Amino acid sequence: MEKKKYYITTPIYYPSGHWHIGHCYTTVICDALARFHKMLGEDVFFLTGTDEHGQKIEKEAAKRGITPMQFIEPLVSQLKDMWKLLDIDYNRFIRTTDEEHTECVKKIYQKLYDSGDIYKAEYSGYYCTPCESMWTEAQLVDGKCPDCGREVTLQKEESYFFRLSKYAPAIMKLYEDNPEFLQPKSRVNEMVNNFLKAGLQDLCVSRTTVKWGVQLPFDKNHYAYVWIDALSNYISALGYLSEDDSLFKKYWPAQLHMLGKEIVRFHAIIWPALLMALGVPVPEQVYGHGWLLIGGDKLSKSKTDAVKYELTDPYELVKRYGTDAVRYFLLREIPFGSDGEYTNERFLNRINADLSNDLGNLVSRTAAMINQNFGCLPARGKAEGVDCELIAAAEGLFSKVKEALERLNAPDALAEIFAVVSRANKYIDETTPWILAKNESKKERLGAVLYNLAETIRICAIMLKPFLTKAPALILKSLSCDENAGFESLAFGGLKAGAKVEKLPPVFPRVDIKKELAEVESIVKELKKAEEIPQAQETPSKEQITIDDFAKVEMRVGTVIACEAVKKSKLLHETVSIGNRTLSILSGIAKHYTAEEMLGKRVIVVTNLPPREMKGILSEGMLVCAEAPDGTLTVVSPEKNVPDGSLLS
Ligand code: MSP
Repeated sequence: MEKKKYYITTPIYYPSGHWHIGHCYTTVICDALARFHKMLGEDVFFLTGTDEHGQKIEKEAAKRGITPMQFIEPLVSQLKDMWKLLDIDYNRFIRTTDEEHTECVKKIYQKLYDSGDIYKAEYSGYYCTPCESMWTEAQLVDGKCPDCGREVTLQKEESYFFRLSKYAPAIMKLYEDNPEFLQPKSRVNEMVNNFLKAGLQDLCVSRTTVKWGVQLPFDKNHYAYVWIDALSNYISALGYLSEDDSLFKKYWPAQLHMLGKEIVRFHAIIWPALLMALGVPVPEQVYGHGWLLIGGDKLSKSKTDAVKYELTDPYELVKRYGTDAVRYFLLREIPFGSDGEYTNERFLNRINADLSNDLGNLVSRTAAMINQNFGCLPARGKAEGVDCELIAAAEGLFSKVKEALERLNAPDALAEIFAVVSRANKYIDETTPWILAKNESKKERLGAVLYNLAETIRICAIMLKPFLTKAPALILKSLSCDENAGFESLAFGGLKAGAKVEKLPPVFPRVDIKKELAEVESIVKELKKAEEIPQAQETPSKEQITIDDFAKVEMRVGTVIACEAVKKSKLLHETVSIGNRTLSILSGIAKHYTAEEMLGKRVIVVTNLPPREMKGILSEGMLVCAEAPDGTLTVVSPEKNVPDGSLLS
């Protein structure tokens, strides 16, 4: 029989700044779901990657004076490291700068252009760069982006549009016919009330001002809108419209797109409309989860600065507490579909309570008692009343976890597993094995109790495998079980009497929360320092001058019409046109610019300095430059196209 397929995706991540624990949320959930479906014997394809084009990245790179690729590369490799640390077992990591992807985006645009779903018109609207979203004036809230509340910029340019409006009725019908398509339910109401009811406008899908992107095949002056580029990854990764589209045929449509609630609009309106226009089936389900919050706000760079010392760096968190602790917190703490507050205290409390106390103690107490009293696993024995309850809880666990994960609800699934862990701890209190151990005639009963505990632990360890990647294998090995054991071996009674039971070092050491929080605070202070983008240092102010002093300086706009390096010096010799005349200018910038680079540059020149001769050449003015903290010089140019000779005032 052919295996059932399960295609699951995370959004592709913007490599636009440092990575924080909020970024790990979507991907850890997807990884747990992917692992669970693999354990069910399904053919799983798990896709993740990076969204590398667009204005946001172009700007961040420009801010640092480097190319977008130079800016992106380290962030992409840090992201991959982060996924490795968190044991994210994806099948494919797609980058929107991959050639196969950009080729696919071009073909998608061409196809939509040929079918008439993309057309050219004048665009005028507001752009939010951090969200890479376009808004009409009516959609703005107090003149700001309705999604993130940040500044928007007015943009007017000739653009290509996608006929989104045409697909509005089909999207409405999609929601009506498939109540499972968009989850949780509240997101459907948001989409309908905030967007569909008001009517969809056609979507601007090209830019001429942002050149860091995919050039349109039918108009080289235009570049793909980053969201169309990004969404296409879900099918380009499978070879859609390529020579080999076998993966596309096998895995599409996706069973699940998992993503944060702020990007539901793109996935539940724009994406299905695009697919409909392409004649491709829509995904089975889109789930918009909630956010990790800090101080009530979504975790993000700008906001974490304002917050006290919460450690949000995933690398540090994994280093300090381990992969399982970080995965567990993310999967267990936040009620699924809602937002959840992130603090180090909550993190540590959760780990201490569930992993160290409940699970850790159960495992170590049981192993210690078995070794002390029997040296190896005792025989199962006859079940008594209280045993039956524990056995029933362990035996019923799989179907409860499965039911929770069918709703994608990892916190509920984990709550079910830890309910059994708690039941087992309670069973220890009820059966008092330490008292049984004192009485030789109760040895058989003691053996039965310890067997039931060991077996419950084994079943919980198997059920924990989709969620935790380290502890389950350790626990299974300590019980002399195959660490690869899966759901096929869940029947109660799988452990063999006589098996060696190793005492484990504490699986999750208990943390002294007060001490730990103090240490974390100092780590965060250090991390914050390291993160800062170097800012121009406040140089000592010069003596004050009057406006009349300033007015004495004559500065004009010019263009470099000729330039050559002056041999054996740090000088470049520029001929600068300032309208009705040219000036010969020497400037000490040969370390920073070549003569070719200077040619054609618009510059600002101080034009009323006394001429001065250097290296036998007359200099009749001075180029205005900015000096970075590391001494790099940048020529200052006028922002707009003003005529040569214009005076600065
Ligand atoms: N590049 C787009 C997605 C394009 S998909 C075709 C994007 N990238 S992102 O890097 O900003 O976000 C990636 C994922 O991280 C999203 O699911 C987002 O919701 C999630 N998170 C980022 N910060 C988060 C929290 N504070 N909490 C939970 N998840 C959040 O959007």
